[in-house]
Amino acid sequence: MQHTERLAAYWAEALGGPTTYSEQHGDETHAVRIHSGNGAHEEMDQRAIACFDQALADVGLARDERLRRVLHDYFAWATTTTMAHYHHSADDVPDGLRMPKWSWDGLVSGWEAKDI
Ligand code: HEM
Repeated sequence: MQHTERLAAYWAEALGGPTTYSEQHGDETHAVRIHSGNGAHEEMDQRAIACFDQALADVGLARDERLRRVLHDYFAWATTTTMAHYHHSADDVPDGLRMPKWSWDGLVSGWEAKDI
């Protein structure tokens, strides 16, 4: 799978869809390691969230305010939480992390900050 397909598979799974990412590519630990060890990057995070919001508008998903809001909230949360926890080194990311799942009501219960 190429990057776009892997990312789509991850997001589909995180948003309650098929478990293709976990079955065929990797787990949460793998995805978090890719995003770790780069030092703190708050400005980049905010710019990434702005790009994500713009992409939603570009493809027409921002016309549905409920959909726009839930996708924005998911991306903003993941960008600043799970993907921004191990600034020092990818080697600090524990094995066996669980992929957080997001629903219309936000973070699905059963996943907690201690799971990072
Ligand atoms: C500051 C925001 C972010 C930046 C700059 C960023 C950057 C990257 C980069 C450089 C890669 C590797 C590209 C490649 O495959 O060659 C990647 C992969 C990936 N990112 Fe992000 N990312 C960001 C946020 C996120 C968030 C919030 C998520 C999930 C909620 C995410 C999920 C993924 C996944 C699933 C992959 C593919 C992992 C794999 O290869 O299995 N990213 N990202």
